[in-house]
This record gives sequence, C-alpha cells and structure tokens, in this order.
Amino acid sequence: MNTNDTLIPLLGIVTDIRQDTPDVKTFRVVAPDGGKVFEHMPGQCAMLSIPGVGEGMFSITSSPTNKEFMEFSIKKCGCLTTWLHQMDVGQMITIRGPYGNAFPVETELKGKNLLFVAGGIGLAPLRSVINYVRDNRSNYGSVRIVYGSRSKDDLVDYKEIIDEWMNDEGIEVNLTIDNPQDGWDGHVGFVPNYVKELNPSTDSTVLVCGPPVMIKFTLAGLKELGFEETQVYTTMELRMKCGVGKCGRCNIGNKYVCKDGPVFRFDELGELPDEY
Ligand SMILES: Cc1cc2nc3c(=O)[nH]c(=O)nc-3n(C[C@H](O)[C@H](O)[C@H](O)COP(=O)(O)OP(=O)(O)OC[C@H]3O[C@@H](n4cnc5c(N)ncnc54)[C@H](O)[C@@H]3O)c2cc1C
Ligand code: FES
Repeated sequence: MNTNDTLIPLLGIVTDIRQDTPDVKTFRVVAPDGGKVFEHMPGQCAMLSIPGVGEGMFSITSSPTNKEFMEFSIKKCGCLTTWLHQMDVGQMITIRGPYGNAFPVETELKGKNLLFVAGGIGLAPLRSVINYVRDNRSNYGSVRIVYGSRSKDDLVDYKEIIDEWMNDEGIEVNLTIDNPQDGWDGHVGFVPNYVKELNPSTDSTVLVCGPPVMIKFTLAGLKELGFEETQVYTTMELRMKCGVGKCGRCNIGNKYVCKDGPVFRFDELGELPDEY
C-alpha cells in the first residue's frame, strides 16, 4: 500500500495472466515491493493504464480477503484492452484507485440470503463479493449463483466455479448458456428466463451484473416474481474518463456512476440510462 491519493497512478507488476475465455484474460497484479497496490472493498474498481496507449476502468475481481494480490478480468474490445491482452508476465502497468462505492457486504447484506445473477464478463465484480462471502460464510444466509454466457467457453472463471464454488456447502450454482453445445448437458437459455424458471424465494437480496439488456430483463423478471427494487443491487459500467466526478461523462439523471456508484440499489436510480 503506497498512498491514499486515488488520483496518483501507482506501478503494478503483472505476475500471472490466464486465458479465461476466447476474449477474456485475468491479470494478477502486485506492487513493485510484492504487496498489494492498495486495498479495496467488493464492487470497487481501478483505472488501469498503459502510458501512451490509454486508460480504462475495471472492476477488481479478486476479493479483499486475498491479502497478496489484486486480479482483473478483462475483455478484449478496443485499443487499451487489446494492448493489455498482448502483455507478458513481468510487464508493468499503472493503476489508480480504488474508485466508487462497494456492495454493502458489512451492512445491508450481512445476515441476508443472497442471490447473485451474472452474465458474461459481468461476473467480474460479483466474483469479488462471492469470494468475500465464502471467506466470511457465517455472516450470510443461503447463497445462490445464477450465471450464464453465450457458450461454455465464454463462462469466465469456469475452473474456479467447478472446483471451488460448486464444492462449497450451502452454495448453489446454476449455470446456463445461450445455445445448445456439444459437451454441455447443463441448462440452455438466457439468464433472465432461467432466473424466472428457478423461481427463487423472495426472501433474498439480489446482486445483478451483466450486459444492459440482461440487467433490464432480469429486473423485470424479478419484479414479476415479487421482488421489490429495494432488494436488488447492480453495478453499472458506463463510460468513464476522470473517475472522480469532474468530467460529467458518466451521469444517470443527477447521479454520477463514478462518484455515487458504480453500485446502486435499483430504487436509488429512478430511471435506467437509454442503453438499458
Ligand atoms: C465501473 C466500470 C467497471 C468495468 N469493469 C470492467 C471489467 O471488470 N472488465 C472489463 O473487461 N471491462 C470493464 N469495464 C469496461 C472497460 O472499462 C472498457 O471495456 C475499456 O475501457 C475499453 O477500453 P479500450 O480502449 O480497449 O476500448 P475502446 O477502444 O475505448 O472501445 C472499444 C469498444 O468498447 C466500447 N466501450 C468502451 N468503454 C466501454 C464501457 N465502459 N462500457 C461499454 N462499452 C464500452 C466502445 O464503445 C467500443 O465499441 C468497466 C467499465 C466501468 C465504467
Ligand atoms: S467519469 Fe468523470 S464524472 Fe464520472
């Protein structure tokens, strides 16, 4: 831990890179002295940058209960992310943060039954919460995870899900993929429909993250099942520049996603942005 000033870029060394899906890699990052670059809470993000290339906001996907490193799961989609995907272990990036609020794991979520609903790379911020909850298991009630992607190969963190989450007592994992695929005998269908089919008990607090269309239909489905907006949290990935409420790039109504979010309870939002 080097400084509390979130505007100062710090150095990070990439110590491990794993190819999670055809277009997602997970990067493990430590400070040059070998420790963590900074501490965070589940749901918070960091600005990663490559000098001369660009910078972008990414969820910290590792849990703060991990005291050795931070991890980022990054989908290749443009200039910066393509650059990051070409990196090798041992190379340096700069990193500033942590930014944004966190899921209220130590307050509102404590003692609650939790339902996690994720689509695609949307698992990245929820993985941090899921592993935080697993490491503090007695503080929470039942845990159910509904996660889907286009195909089996596009399920991020598949190995961890199969080897660890599915072997945890008291955690139910429901996976789905969009279309049938050879070698897949699990559920097939979109995440929002699967949530409705599973008909989860309305005594849970829900954490949702995924593409805008998935969030929109999941929220509608949850309401049909009898959930209130006050029971559902999400994290929004609007385009950001400064990350600290200065540039006005990331507003939803009178809220700035970077400053007031990215984690919101649905009743706090009022309306969703146009792309939802
Ligand atoms: C709070 C927050 C958390 C995020 N967490 C993650 C994460 O954990 N993993 C991850 O892979 N990405 C995450 N993102 C998105 C990530 O910041 C962008 O994908 C990245 O900055 C794109 O950089 P680029 O230079 O490669 O792409 P660009 O060249 O800038 O753009 C390439 C394409 O991606 C689109 N794009 C760029 N930024 C965004 C965005 N914010 N949302 C949607 N589309 C975008 C562009 O419209 C374009 O089509 C997060 C964004 C925010 C705001
Ligand atoms: S990113 Fe600049 S105000 Fe939110």
